[in-house]
Order: sequence, then structure tokens, then C-alpha cells
Amino acid sequence: MSKKVIAVNASPRIGWNTDTLVAEAMKGAESAGAETEKFDLFRLEKYTGCISCFGCKKEKNRGRCVCRDGLSPVLDAIREADGLIIGSPNYLSEMTASFRALYERLIFQNLTYNAEVPCCNERPIPVLLIMTSNAPDSMYQGLLRDYQQTLSRFVGPTEVFVSGDTLQLKDYSKTDWKWTMFDRRNPEGLQEANKYPNLFLYIPALFHMLQQYHLYTLYIPPV
Ligand SMILES: Cc1cc2nc3c(=O)[nH]c(=O)nc-3n(C[C@H](O)[C@H](O)[C@H](O)COP(=O)(O)O)c2cc1C
Repeated sequence: MSKKVIAVNASPRIGWNTDTLVAEAMKGAESAGAETEKFDLFRLEKYTGCISCFGCKKEKNRGRCVCRDGLSPVLDAIREADGLIIGSPNYLSEMTASFRALYERLIFQNLTYNAEVPCCNERPIPVLLIMTSNAPDSMYQGLLRDYQQTLSRFVGPTEVFVSGDTLQLKDYSKTDWKWTMFDRRNPEGLQEANKYPNLFLYIPALFHMLQQYHLYTLYIPPV
């Protein structure tokens, strides 16, 4: 039976930087024989982040967020999946609010508050975390390291791929006032090339993910 990989786009802009990378990662998983399903967080029914109901801390609900809203199908699909691809733009030095809503509920449901066994996720799955930003790739290393550690601990072994220096607009010359912050990479002709500047850099990250995908049963969660 083919493996199932869930892909999540946490950008509101379909077909732009983040969505493109998520779609390419999905193609990678598909080329390795996986079945994929994509969720656009900005197209879902209304949802919230964790509402602190502690339903997931009841024995009968262990590891299961009991809040039912637009995010429930995404959480249910991830629970059944063999791999997760999740991409978000950087918004004000963080991931988007939609990413955070999913992240809170995905992680918190697996946190037991038990010192001996802090995580109740018995089926870790590999995760590819993608972030795009206007800033250079190296800008948010600390942020990404924290996400990588937490996702690795509560969801499964996580690889990170960053694509910085992205374009926000197709044509900066059409803004109502001068966006001078972007002058340095707005010479004519470079715009299209800059749109996906690191298109080929993420292939090793995908390769790693797929490797883990095949080996996921050997994964031992960190103590
Ligand atoms: C509300 C908002 C806040 C942003 N904040 C940052 C930021 O703090 N740092 C950064 O590097 N880029 C920031 N950006 C730029 C986006 O991260 C970047 O353009 C990203 O690639 C957009 O992804 P998308 O094309 O998938 O929408 C911001 C964009 C928006 C709309």
C-alpha cells in the first residue's frame, strides 16, 4: 500500500513562493510512490489555535485534539499520514498565524506533562518544514532550530528548508510609493530569476525527507 504524505500550505497566496515549494515537495513524494493530499490553511472553514480546553489531556483522548473546527480534518489527516510537508512564509519574524494555529494544536495534543514520557505520539512521521522570507536564508536560524526541535520531538524527525530573498510582488515598479528597501534586488530582468532563487537547493532536503520516509519505523524519539 502506498504511503500517504500530507502537505500544508500556510500562506494565503496560492501559487506563490511557499505554495510553489510545497507543491514541488509533493511532487518529490509522489515520484517516490507516495499519495499526497494538500490543505491550504487559508481556504479552510473557521478555526482557532489551541483553546486550552485540556480535552487532549484526558486518558480517553490522549494525543487527540478534541476541538472540532476547520483544522480538525487537517489534524485527522496528519494523524493517519506517513509524512508531513508544511510550508509557511515568515510574517514579522514568525510563521503565519494560521501555521501557529495548526502548530499549537498539533504539538500540544501530544504533550503529556508527564516527566517520564513527555510525548504520547507513538507513531512519529518525518516532517519537512519549509519557510520563505524576504530576508536572507540565514536570518531566522534560531527560530527554525526551535521549530525543528519541537516538531522532531512531538511529530517526527524534521528537516528544514528555507528560501530567503523571495519576491513579494511580481513588479515592484507598480507600487504606489517607492519600496526602496527592495531596490538592491530589483534590477530589470532579475525579478523573475529572483522569484524562486533557491529552487535547486531544496532537493537535498527533500531527498533526506524521503530517506527518512522509508526508514521511519527505525526512528527512535528523543528522550
Ligand atoms: C504580513 C507580512 C509580514 C512579513 N514579515 C516578514 C518578516 O518579518 N521577515 C521577512 O523576511 N519577510 C517578511 N515578509 C515577507 C514574506 O515572508 C515573503 O515575501 C514570503 O516569501 C511570502 O510568501 P508567499 O509568496 O508564499 O506569500 C512578510 C510578508 C507579509 C505579508
